[in-house]
Amino acid sequence: MFKLNDNYLKLPGSYLFSTIGRKVNAYSAANPDKKIIRLGIGDVTQPLAPVVIQALHHAVDEMGKAETFRGYSPDLGYEFLRNAIAENDYRARGCNISADEIFVSDGAKSDSGNIQEIFSLDNRIAVCDPVYPVYVDSNVMAGRTGNYDGNTEIWSNVIYMPCTAANNFAPELPKETPDLIYLCFPNNPTGATVTKAQLQEWVDYANKVGAVIIFDAAYEAYISEADVPHSIYECEGARTCAIELHSFSKNAGFTGVRLGYTVIPKDLKCGDVALHSLWARRHGTKYNGAPYIVQRAGEAVYSEEGKAQLKKQVAYYMNNASYIYNGLKEAGFTVSGGVNAPYIWLQTPKGMTSWEFFDYLLENVNVVGTPGSGFGPSGEGYFRLTAFGSYENTVEAVDRIKTLKL
Ligand code: MLT
Repeated sequence: MFKLNDNYLKLPGSYLFSTIGRKVNAYSAANPDKKIIRLGIGDVTQPLAPVVIQALHHAVDEMGKAETFRGYSPDLGYEFLRNAIAENDYRARGCNISADEIFVSDGAKSDSGNIQEIFSLDNRIAVCDPVYPVYVDSNVMAGRTGNYDGNTEIWSNVIYMPCTAANNFAPELPKETPDLIYLCFPNNPTGATVTKAQLQEWVDYANKVGAVIIFDAAYEAYISEADVPHSIYECEGARTCAIELHSFSKNAGFTGVRLGYTVIPKDLKCGDVALHSLWARRHGTKYNGAPYIVQRAGEAVYSEEGKAQLKKQVAYYMNNASYIYNGLKEAGFTVSGGVNAPYIWLQTPKGMTSWEFFDYLLENVNVVGTPGSGFGPSGEGYFRLTAFGSYENTVEAVDRIKTLKL
């Protein structure tokens, strides 16, 4: 008789955003006349940039002719895309990363969930609290997290690093020593950032204790302040301790197109073994590469035209972010984020729990956000709104929230 991977049974019944989706759909079915505004999941709403559409059309035409048709893509991604990434995201920023240290994938969600596979099950992970749920859930699925305490998101083998108003939502170095450290800056969900000097402390710490930092840079395109690093490889010593994850979802609107990449420098080793070769082995075995047409679309993101068009798109969402931030502040909410990130993090009013406030907003003003407690215990009492809606919906949602007598 077969047996299950019962680590899956230790997880809460469904992924955070699926739970929200179910609740909203049930409300909507019961109240078909209400216009619900969704600022919950960080999903983009603006159409793909013209340069991306052109690249997609062109690549589709190539696939329709025998002379230019392509089959399987190279395991690690096409050279044209890896070169564009290395040049623009790294060399142009003074970071020493080469094209053959870049692994193209279908997005940062899969890579952030899969990367734990190349590490021993004995490794202890440290995560920010609150945190993007994929980091913890994927380690639970693998059986790396010990026991769930039944009431909260706390797992006995995970080192939680509280990110609260007291530390500006940036974690302190943990007291217990982890083997893997997940960091995401600009942060999802709080929208907080760290300075280059703060990130350097993490790099120095990881090199000292022999830990690997898994740095999720999915939101780097939203950085507006000068001292905030776009890549962990801006820090000295990061080549020997850090893996970096990138997404095209948020900077180029690819949530439905799917493209991302992971960087593993060849200097990152455990004894004599380069992590790069393990991930290459894994990629080659379990993945057949992102589609050619999508990789061509990714290449277009780095053209001069593409950069200009996407800068406008990011500015569009950041205009929403400041509308939400300022509007809620005026309405008396305690808010943060929204300056270097498309997320606004607010304190729930009147001591409501995160889920109570979720229900309250849904029922009273038909606005959907994400309960902070869904991201971890320190998220309780907080709530996340995304700036990825349309401008019109964002304005309407904030104006509706302002009418509440809280
Ligand atoms: C979020 O809302 O946190 C993100 O959209 C999730 C993701 O990028 O997978």
